[in-house]
Amino acid sequence: MSALPARPRVAVVGATGVVGRVMLDILHERSFPASEIVAVASARSAGRRIAFGGQTLEVRALEEGVFEGIDLVLLDTPDDIARTWAPVAAAAGAIVVDNSAAWRMDRDVPLVCPEVNASALATLTTGIIASPNCTTLGVVVPLGALHRRFGLRKVVVSSYQSVSGAGRGGIDELREQVDKLAGDPGAIEALASGTARDLLPPGELFAAPIAFNVVPQAGSVREQGYTSEEVKLATETRKIMGLPDLEVTATCVRVPTVVGHGAAVWARFAAAVDIGEALRCLDEAPGVALTELPTPQLSAGRDPSYVGRVRPDLGDPHALCFFCACDNLRKGAALNAVQIAEHLLPT
Ligand SMILES: NC(=O)c1ccc[n+]([C@@H]2O[C@H](COP(=O)([O-])OP(=O)(O)OC[C@H]3O[C@@H](n4cnc5c(N)ncnc54)[C@H](OP(=O)(O)O)[C@@H]3O)[C@@H](O)[C@H]2O)c1
Repeated sequence: MSALPARPRVAVVGATGVVGRVMLDILHERSFPASEIVAVASARSAGRRIAFGGQTLEVRALEEGVFEGIDLVLLDTPDDIARTWAPVAAAAGAIVVDNSAAWRMDRDVPLVCPEVNASALATLTTGIIASPNCTTLGVVVPLGALHRRFGLRKVVVSSYQSVSGAGRGGIDELREQVDKLAGDPGAIEALASGTARDLLPPGELFAAPIAFNVVPQAGSVREQGYTSEEVKLATETRKIMGLPDLEVTATCVRVPTVVGHGAAVWARFAAAVDIGEALRCLDEAPGVALTELPTPQLSAGRDPSYVGRVRPDLGDPHALCFFCACDNLRKGAALNAVQIAEHLLPT
């Protein structure tokens, strides 16, 4: 489908954030055929200059009239801003690809991972398309391929999510705590004895100190003890896969990595899983790179969902285990949105 002109005018909203900055890099790297790119952020950032390719763009404030003449809006802002401004942009005639959680579960908004359900773009009626959560994307790219071959029935995921998943504030919180401990010669002993807690500045974004720690609560606590990230992973996976009854259970954990979300996945299928066939299927899957050791550091700055440690469930011939790692700012957000936009260009 071609909902966009051949040389669209593009607005990147949230251009000063961690996703927005990567969005600009990816538009440049992929030579997206924009006739113009407008960088937009809050009024706090108006007038700042940010890099795009070899040039700089002056940031405009998000305000009435900013979408005039714009064909494509790539929205990389907090949920409440996206909830308010996506309909404004759509009413002004733009197609909106939103990276926030504001519209993902809206029944009239397609939620798209192009490797899995590009066909959902044909259902576009509101002008708003949602891009999935970063952890969901890294997992559904390999799972989608396995589902097409074996028929997915149940998934159990444990995530290892980097601090940039919480935006630039997440990186700042880790940096502040690491700097504090790194400047203290007794830090290792303090960590070993449990007194490091007293040395650290209080965190705002994470539920416990994140430096040299593992925090088994990513997102806010919701129903029945699950967190918002765990609920998103379940509901979004069902919507993208078109499997409303899919059994999904997740435990989402924040770890002190900077970029790249890891996930340990156990999946059960309708058909028995031959390990050689599963590996072939993953090897041929678009967006997947099979590798021996898929770490967040390997994924950072790169496009694929890296998949490895693929092995059978020794007690269940229908189940498979693997680990995947994916750059949460690229495939987990900006790249996926640009891929969606590319699908909307005339061929
Ligand atoms: N980080 C990830 O891995 C990831 C992955 C998938 C989806 N997402 C989603 O993508 C969105 C952006 O996340 P992020 O990580 O890039 O966050 P971020 O680093 O905190 O950046 C937020 C951006 O939103 C802008 N913004 C904030 N309030 C605004 C307002 N009132 N009006 C206009 N712009 C405003 C900020 O502009 P100022 O600089 O002017 O404040 C900044 O450009 C969020 O919805 C997030 O959930 C993030």
